[in-house]
Amino acid sequence: MSRPQSAPDVDLEALQAAAEEFLQLFHTENPAAGSAELRIAAVRREIDLTGTYWHTPDELVFGARVAWRNNERCIGRLYWRSLQVRDLRDVSTAGDVAAHCFDHLREAYNGGKIRPMISVFAPETPTTAAPRIWNEQLIRYAGYDLPEGKAIGDPRYRSFTTQLIQRGWRPPVSPGAFDVLPLVVETLAEGPRLFELPSSAVQEVELEHPELPWFAGLGLRWHAVPVISNNTLVIGGISYPAAPFNGWYMGTEIGARNLGDNDRYALVPEIAVRMGLDTSDEATLWRDRALVELNRAVLHSYRSSGVSITDHHTESRRFLIHLEREERAGRTCPADWTWIVPPLSGSQTPVFHRYYDDANAGPSFVTDPETVHRGLHGAPPAFR
Ligand code: ARG
Repeated sequence: MSRPQSAPDVDLEALQAAAEEFLQLFHTENPAAGSAELRIAAVRREIDLTGTYWHTPDELVFGARVAWRNNERCIGRLYWRSLQVRDLRDVSTAGDVAAHCFDHLREAYNGGKIRPMISVFAPETPTTAAPRIWNEQLIRYAGYDLPEGKAIGDPRYRSFTTQLIQRGWRPPVSPGAFDVLPLVVETLAEGPRLFELPSSAVQEVELEHPELPWFAGLGLRWHAVPVISNNTLVIGGISYPAAPFNGWYMGTEIGARNLGDNDRYALVPEIAVRMGLDTSDEATLWRDRALVELNRAVLHSYRSSGVSITDHHTESRRFLIHLEREERAGRTCPADWTWIVPPLSGSQTPVFHRYYDDANAGPSFVTDPETVHRGLHGAPPAFR
């Protein structure tokens, strides 16, 4: 096909190439889907006519699953084929996006037997801007600066919380350590809009320790389902900026990082003191000992509440099985050592003791600095 000489569209060339590469992959891995050549020719015409193309439902499902398979940071990829894909590409208004996100949370929770799931909302096209979700995850806890230099809640979201309060969010009368932030959905037509999460969408686990009776008295909790909501799903050159997805938690994400990190809930010193450890001398390894008990509490509590969770030893072994399977299928498995190795007892897990392949092309979850900033600071808006 010929295009006007005066306006060679570099982006369309790139889109054609990305589409073709993806469709080749789709047909190679799905031989029953028919002729790659016919589909590629049809998509080429569609792009020439409209500047974009529409994935078939099967292509969307495959693309989303492969984006997970390609996610270098994820240790839990053994089950990538089981990802449930909610095709919501006809949903684009803020209220509808929010409502479907809340349905996603309920469906993914599934009474505690968490289902890996993605909801794919309207794509970016040459004529319509896709909706954006500002929050890093559908469920995140507010962080507040209190008078006298005190702080409460999740420090990671202090700035985000301040910004949402400026935009009209009313926090609870007495702010708590685990106040769920509203969801922010921005569309070109409506600007950013705030939606309070219904309690039916927010499942949480109260933390207790299997042997330390005082632990429950700390009043700690965490949400059951981690739904990452500010990554863009890219399949064959098409971007889906609103495509929240979840798996289930690995205990260390909560016990070693969210509750343990010094710039998050920073609970290790308090737990060490409650345990009666000697915190005056680093060489007693009081930090390590307290961190282990915090992680035991997380695993124990999710388990006894019947909410899916995995430990880092089991998950490391599963990841090596995944690597083997990928190799046997003739594929490389991209992985980032710094993300794959668990933050607790790294060298006790097999994933520590090896190197990994670098990222490949193909379906992926991506983010950009502005989106990252928006998820942490509630600005700048995507459409100005
Ligand atoms: N580390 C993030 C958190 O604690 C969640 C990232 C995704 N984790 C997962 N198991 N799918 O909130």
